[in-house]
Order: sequence, then structure tokens, then C-alpha cells
Amino acid sequence: MKNHVVINADRTKGNINRHIYGHFAEHLGRCIYEGIWVGEDSPIPNIQGIRTDVLEALRKLNIPVLRWPGGCFADEYHWKDGIGPRETRKCMVNSHWGGLVENNHFGTHEFLLLCELLGCEPYINGNVGSGTVQEMQEWVEYMTFDGESPMADLRRANGREKPWKVTYFGVGNENWGCGGNMRPEFYVDLYRQYQTYVRNYGDNKIVKIACGANDYNTHWTEVLMRDGERYMDALTLHYYTIPNTWQEKGSATEFSEQDWFVTLRKAIAMDELLDKHETIMNKYDPAKRVALIVDEWGTWFDVEPGTNPGFLYQQNTMRDALVAALTLHIFQDHCDRVQMANIAQTVNVLQSVVLTEGASMILTPTYHVFEMFKVHQDAEALDIALQSEPYEMSGESIPQISVSASRSSDGTIQISLCNAHHDREAELTIELRGTDGSDRATEGTVLSALELNAHNTFAQPNTVQPAPLSGIVRGDDGTIRLTMPPASVGILRVG
Ligand code: AHR
Repeated sequence: MKNHVVINADRTKGNINRHIYGHFAEHLGRCIYEGIWVGEDSPIPNIQGIRTDVLEALRKLNIPVLRWPGGCFADEYHWKDGIGPRETRKCMVNSHWGGLVENNHFGTHEFLLLCELLGCEPYINGNVGSGTVQEMQEWVEYMTFDGESPMADLRRANGREKPWKVTYFGVGNENWGCGGNMRPEFYVDLYRQYQTYVRNYGDNKIVKIACGANDYNTHWTEVLMRDGERYMDALTLHYYTIPNTWQEKGSATEFSEQDWFVTLRKAIAMDELLDKHETIMNKYDPAKRVALIVDEWGTWFDVEPGTNPGFLYQQNTMRDALVAALTLHIFQDHCDRVQMANIAQTVNVLQSVVLTEGASMILTPTYHVFEMFKVHQDAEALDIALQSEPYEMSGESIPQISVSASRSSDGTIQISLCNAHHDREAELTIELRGTDGSDRATEGTVLSALELNAHNTFAQPNTVQPAPLSGIVRGDDGTIRLTMPPASVGILRVG
């Protein structure tokens, strides 16, 4: 069998919501403090306290939406502790993540400033587990009410005259676990109650997001859809790619070919997982009004040796790049229901796009995938028929090749590709059907490395970086032929 791809450019599968390329930043380890926020007095260059290098790197990704403040942290966070003059804000203990004492200097104003500087939409996650209905109602009023009211007046007193636009609001996080250990029957009633007070002020229309299931917990989705569907605009799903067991996940950088294979096999399980939850959603919402938001996904390995176990700091290799690319392809394929996804987490935690150490910053292989794939944002997903060689190991098999294609509003077609095989090249033929043939030029970019565990370090920040993809041959009939190196991610532009 050969790797053969047919792209029907005249048949679209729908719009790829740019929010699929969203991110998640939690008060966890060195994500917010150090990774994003250094404070105005820091010797590290910053814009109003937000470090400039990280901001500039993230801007290049066209981040469409950023989720904050958690995660498990969200259900411990009391937003009023994070407003007003910074020197008088009271400290809190981040008891879920390493017991760190935080000074609350990064709060609502700072987060919404970050979103303004990034040009992205905020996705705020409210507190159901340990917060009150009133607290949630007042947070929304504080941020979005333009008239005179206690909360809008408080916002003005804190220096912000005009309300912010806040589109996405999550009512609790992982309420089946760290967010209160609830049963779905209990949470769905709480959800209905809390969301009542998440109000639309003026023309600020909030997308109300209910806490969804963890990986295969379809019962949670069933109950939420059955009893809560008409009160929500979106339901979430969390799924992490963990190569081994929860207790011993495995190293981010020291792994075998078998670990490589298992990790990728577990990453593409996202596809069947989405099918399972979507089947339930389709039963209660055949019109697909309620969005599915995968607001936590990515690799989860053991922390880097010598680092705080509560900080979840891990390195990022070509294996992460493949997980990112394969997963983004799956989201694009499910673009009729998946309207947002948020990789965990932006800086210094789990599958991060950037890592920092003091004043230094490096870009990870995952960063490069997001940068290469950003052209898919808001493009039309194209219909694809794929015939892939199998990639087999220890009696198991996954496709060697993964492909996704889209057309942007300017007519450019982009085709992203993964060769999952750890040591075999992939020869590919791509038939581009349904175009008028005027799109002759094809250029490509590839991310690959000599070692499966290749990664960027502060000493060697450019070990893994994109390069031009050579050897693309375009036949007279429009057929594209190319060879992808082992363990690689690529993108072609046809236009
Ligand atoms: O991303 C780390 C944690 O994983 C989040 O805080 C939580 O929601 C999930 O369990």
C-alpha cells in the first residue's frame, strides 16, 4: 500500500473555528508568575508587568483565545482578592499546586490587559467548587457592566472606566474532581443555578460553558446534556495524553521507540473520544447548537528531575510536536462540533509552547507546530480521502500518515501532514481535485530532527526549528509528490 491522499477542494467540511488554536494559562507552577507576569519593577523587560519576550512570541501564534485562571485553581480562586492596588492585595496559598504563596498581583485587570496585548478573547473560568453564586454574578458585572452599579463603580475606582468584552465564561472546572468531587446529577443542578446569574450586560453576550467530562466518562456528558442542554452554549471535555500510568507517566525526554508509538496511539484516541461524546450530544442537540470545547489537552509526563512535583514543569520534544499536530488534525476533522480547544498550558507547565528560565525564553517544538498551522485558523476544512501505510509496533497499528487541508479566504490551500513513523520516511502522493488548475506553486515547511527526543534547551535553543521542505514535485495533472522525513510535521501551501 502507498500513502495516497485525495483532497476534494470543492467539498468543504465547514469552518475551522480559530478557537481550536486556543491556549490555557493557570496559576500553576511558573506559568503565570515568572512565565507571564514579572511585575513592573522587574529587570526582565516587560509591558506593564507582562514579560515582553513571552508576549511577542505568543503574538506570533495569533492566539485566538486564552483560558484563565484554571484549572483546579479556578475553583479555589476568589477574584476580589486580585483587584485594587497591588500592594494591598492579600496573599493566597495555592494549595492545589505546590502550596505556593501567591501575592495576587496578577488578577482580573492584568489578565484582561494580557488578552488585549495579545489581541485574543478572554475565557474566564468561574468558581463553583468553593465560590458563591453572588461572587460569580459580581465578577461578570465587574467586568462587563457599563452603567452605574456597585461592581461597575468598583471597577472604575480601580482604574478601568469602560467594561471589557468577555465572551467566554466557564461555570466551574472539573467539578467531578478537584472542583468539588460532585456527581453529575448534583453538578448539573448547580450549573443551572449558577449560570442564571451569569448575565449579559449591554451588548456583551456571554457563551456559557458547562463543565464537561474527563476522557471516557460519557455518563457525565449524558446527564449534562439531558438535564442542562438548554442552559448552556458549550460543554467541555478534558483529555491528556499520558504514555504510561497516572503514577508513573514517564520522562518527557528519555523514552523508547515503544514509548513514542504508545504516546502517539494514545494521542489519536482523541478521535474516538470525540465520537463518543458527540454521539451523546447529537442525541440531545442534533442541530449542534451546543459547542464541544476541549479546554484541556496535551501531553502529561513526569516533571523534570529536581523540579517541584506540584509545578508540572516538563520539557517538550519532537514527540510533543507530533502529538500537537495529530490532535489539531482531529479537531479540524470534528470542526462541526468542536468549536474551541485549549492546550495545557501556555508557559512552563505540561505541553507548553514557551519555556522560561530567569530572563531567557525558548520556543518548544509544540510552538513551531502552532506557528506552522496557524494558517488553518478560520479557514474552510476540505474533504479528504486518505490511504495510509500502517505504522505497526508490538501487535498494534496506527496510520503512518495524518493529513488535514483547508482553504483560506484568499484562496490559498494549505495541507498539513504528519509522518508518525519513528524511523521510516513517508512517500506521499497528493491528488488535488476540484480546483481550476491555476494553483501551480507549492511550497512547504517541515519540522523534523535527527533524534526522536530532540528538544530545545536554554543552551541550544534552535535544535528543533522549521525548515523549508525540499523535493516537492508538482505533476502536470496537479498531483503533488513528496517525501516526509521520519517523525516529522509539515505544511504545504498551494496557491
Ligand atoms: O492542567 C493541569 C490540571 O489538569 C488542571 O488544573 C486541571 O483542570 C486538570 O486536572
